[in-house]
Parts: sequence; structure tokens; C-alpha cells
Amino acid sequence: MDVVIVKNYIEMSKHTAGMVGDLIKHQEKPILGLATGGTPIGMYQLLVRQYREGLLSFKHVRSFNLDEYIGLDPTHAKSYHRYMNEHLFLHVDMPFHQTYVPDGMAKNLDKVCRSYEKLLKKIGPPDLQILGIGENGHIGFNEPGSDFNGHTHVIRLADSTREANARYFQSIDEVPTHAITMGIKSILRSKKIVLMASGEKKAAAVKRLLEGSPDEDFPASALCRHPNVTLVADEAAFGQN
Ligand code: GLP
Repeated sequence: MDVVIVKNYIEMSKHTAGMVGDLIKHQEKPILGLATGGTPIGMYQLLVRQYREGLLSFKHVRSFNLDEYIGLDPTHAKSYHRYMNEHLFLHVDMPFHQTYVPDGMAKNLDKVCRSYEKLLKKIGPPDLQILGIGENGHIGFNEPGSDFNGHTHVIRLADSTREANARYFQSIDEVPTHAITMGIKSILRSKKIVLMASGEKKAAAVKRLLEGSPDEDFPASALCRHPNVTLVADEAAFGQN
């Protein structure tokens, strides 16, 4: 795993936006794997700025999002679909039909998972997958104990994840209990993976990741099995490593 240590959140956002921008500029029909959460917001802002300045076009970009809460419709303030609209999709020239986010409102969730996985195989895999990391080591919503051979599936969120994500909701009771997430195997099919980490809350997870032994109790450790992963961490997340 390549490790890039940068000073702070802004530098992490710039570095990662640079990697995404390079791909978009140099590849004819790039496929992006996109993440949500607080970590990539600065990166999306920079990409939108580059688009506005005429430095980037998303016309030929296709994207797959990692995950979505179950029970929140795309217009819900805290759904990942709405997050993507607000932070990227509505502000750039990427046609909506080229963006894929799992449907957390579908009646038949297993079918949604199967179709998403099929689509990922047909159109994908992503040339570049952006990841954040949960304090408990989750990637996407693959919680500790997730199968490293898992495909897109429904997952019950760990209590610690609901607690960590309660900051985005009015109260923890509003945080959905389940989500759809790309599986670890689906994520590992990406050609290149960039894991972003910022802030001291992520330091323990980054430390364990860099210890480098695959362990299903720590989902991010599956990344050790991928030949092309870059960790972009700020000093606070890198901690005492
Ligand atoms: C969330 C998302 C992940 C994200 C992670 C970290 O629950 N499902 O995709 O990377 O947890 O979130 P944040 O960046 O807000 O710390």
C-alpha cells in the first residue's frame, strides 16, 4: 500500500481531487467508485470548482456509489443519494443516467443488490474507488465480521457506526438500522483504490490498517490484498505511526 501523509484535511482533499482529476482528464470513459461521509466533502468541492473553471468535464464519467441507507428515499436530507446530488451530481455535467446509487427504498432489496452487482460487473469495475474508513474499520458499510468474499448486500449497521453517524442526524433514533453496501469483493475488483482518512478519530483505524494483516474483524484490512491502494491520511489520522 502506498501511503501519502499530508498536513491536514484541506491537503488530503487536494491530493485526492488531483488523483480523480488526472483520471478524468486522461481516460476516455472513466468509471469512479464514490464514497460519502464527511471525509470526501472537501474533495467534491474541489472537483466542482475545477469543473466551474472549465478544467474538468464529467460528461463521460460514470459512477457507482458504495452504499445507501435502507428506508431513506433519494430526497431525504440524510440519504446518500441526496448527499451525492448536493455535493457533486447537481453541480457538474455528469448525466444522471451515468450515476448509480443503490436504491434503499426498493421492496425487493435482494434483487436490488443482485442487479447492482451485475451492473458493476457489466459497466465496471471502477478505475478509481474512493473510500473513507469507519472508526471501527468499516469500508462502505462492510462492518466488522463481513465476508471478504462478499458482494453487494444488505447489512445491519453496527451500534458503533450508528453512534458515529448520529452526528449527521437529529438523534441516534433517526439513524437507519440497515444499509445496502457494495461487498468487500466488489470493492476489491476496482483497478485502483484511494482510502482517505482525516482526524485523530481515525488514528486507531489507520494504525491497525498499516499493521497489514487481513482480518475479517477489521474490514479495511482486506485492502492489503489489493495491488494498487493508496492511503491519503492527514497527520492527525496518521497519528504516531
Ligand atoms: C460511513 C460511510 C462510509 C464512510 C465512513 C466514514 O458510515 N458508509 O462510506 O467512509 O462511514 O465516514 P466519515 O467520513 O463521515 O467519517
